[in-house]
Amino acid sequence: MLRTNTCGELSINNVGEEVMLSGWVQRNRDLGGMTFIDLRDRDGITQLAFNMDENSNLCEQARKLGREFVIKVRGIVIERSSKNKNISTGEIEIKVSDLDILNPSKVPPFTIEDQTDGGDELRMKYRYLDIRRNPIKENLILRARVSSETRKYLDKQGFCEIETPYLIKSTPEGARDFIVPSRMNEGQFYALPQSPQTFKQLLMVAGMDKYYQIVKCFRDEDLRADRQPEFTQIDCEMSFVDQEEILNTFEGLTRHLLKEVKGVELNEFPRITYDEAMKMYGSDKPDIRFGMKFVELNYICKEKNFQVFDSAELVVGINVKGGATFSRKQIDKLTDFVKTPQVGAKGLVYCKCNEDGSFKSSVDKFFTQEDLNNWADTCKASSGDLILILAGEKDKTRKALSSLRLHLAEELGLRNPEEFSPVWVLDFPLLEWDEESNRYHAMHHPFTSPKPEDIEKLNTDPASVRANAYDLVLNGNEIGGGSIRIHNRDLQKLMFKHLGFSDEDAKEQFGFLMEAFEYGAPPHGGVAFGFDRLCAIMGGQENIRDFIAFPKNNSGRDVMIDSPSIIDNEQLNELNIKLK
Ligand code: AMO
Repeated sequence: MLRTNTCGELSINNVGEEVMLSGWVQRNRDLGGMTFIDLRDRDGITQLAFNMDENSNLCEQARKLGREFVIKVRGIVIERSSKNKNISTGEIEIKVSDLDILNPSKVPPFTIEDQTDGGDELRMKYRYLDIRRNPIKENLILRARVSSETRKYLDKQGFCEIETPYLIKSTPEGARDFIVPSRMNEGQFYALPQSPQTFKQLLMVAGMDKYYQIVKCFRDEDLRADRQPEFTQIDCEMSFVDQEEILNTFEGLTRHLLKEVKGVELNEFPRITYDEAMKMYGSDKPDIRFGMKFVELNYICKEKNFQVFDSAELVVGINVKGGATFSRKQIDKLTDFVKTPQVGAKGLVYCKCNEDGSFKSSVDKFFTQEDLNNWADTCKASSGDLILILAGEKDKTRKALSSLRLHLAEELGLRNPEEFSPVWVLDFPLLEWDEESNRYHAMHHPFTSPKPEDIEKLNTDPASVRANAYDLVLNGNEIGGGSIRIHNRDLQKLMFKHLGFSDEDAKEQFGFLMEAFEYGAPPHGGVAFGFDRLCAIMGGQENIRDFIAFPKNNSGRDVMIDSPSIIDNEQLNELNIKLK
């Protein structure tokens, strides 16, 4: 037997018991007469006490234990004289009578503490040591809870968990595929799924109705804080449902997770259309934890001889509450920010609403106090507020103001990670124009149904056709997306045509799906949540990497196992692959 208890569970109620604990040496403090060791396992930390007067041999042995040694001890639980209120075991310690070293350890390359001295690459190379640290360990435990509560909720709602294959044919969802050569089929390749999209639709044709899967997806795309080449989805599909039922079901899932895992009761889930989101926030994933909604000012800002506004397609502002106290230097910094290449604005106009009722703007030459008063009224700005305005081409200006809005919110501490504000964004455009390939692409994926009332515009004004597609946004992050699918062969064929697929291409790539649609496909729809993102946001962060046990670095490498790596010639020959 290696232990009777874990290192996180003993308390004052266990005083007097003889126990055995096993774990890692977190810290070793030699105080002369006494030696104290903090013993750690996944569950917590327990203090071990060794007394020189009572057992000098044992105490000598304890003194020599290095950090991260794995040991086993036997001893009696006693009450501590100096208590530590910060940990659950802080009122007791173990008076050790037996000590066994189960395994020594080299000195770890970084400290296994909450605040470590290890840089990113080092932590990734020794990820198994990094995971011993509380912050990472807690993230993985949170992830396990979210996964278990997801299963509980969906099982209760009658969903059935079904696995779909990983070695498939490519599904065109925007990103590049990861390709796997087939040894048995010379010159042919599998693709790893970007998502189980076509399979879950086939499961609906198969009559499996409410399907779900917590599933790995693979996308060979450029990495960002919220993207990994292999990531996990909570993938779901339902038959005989409309959009409303889907939104309600997954609103329910989100509520359940936040309540059970975080103890947070969510309020309403507002719904806004894609067009409204772009107009009010300049983003299809608005962070609505705070205000600063966009106010369009075209009709009151033009024709005052200010060329920048007069020539702009859009003049749009935000009201920064209490911002009139910003110094010149602070405003200059914001101007520099909007001018950075990533934001791309040419300049920033400001108007301070002074406490005495007067206004001070950067364009006083062109606008009277009455004009500025008009701006303030339109922006619902009062004394003490600051109006910030950008002008230019519509889409670019909205995007730039969205960056400024988020930047300001960050600086003003308005993005509280412990506050959760979900919002559904509905009615996404069906198609988006791609400059590179000079054709339309499906904004979501080619199986998303257009709104019936918009179908006729597919020929005349494709860009204005709206889809039955929705995203769930939490704290400004897209945590899920889905749609009502096309279940009619002719409509699916028409969609492929509009996406520039020839009949042969469509048949070659999706013949199996179109054929399935001829055997009684039910109306169906679904959603997929980005599981890693959801966990990260629930953990109060936006970077998903520390919520994945063994993530890839920014170049898509696993530096711990050193992958990807070259393979030997024998393997290449077997696969009939010749490298240049
Ligand atoms: P979509 O492509 O929007 O939809 O993906 C669903 C959700 O997955 C998450 N996500 C990612 N997370 C981490 N790393 C990535 N590289 C990554 N890419 C996407 C996002 C996103 O909202 N089959 C459809 C769903 C459907 O229509 O049912 C799909 O995959 O949080």
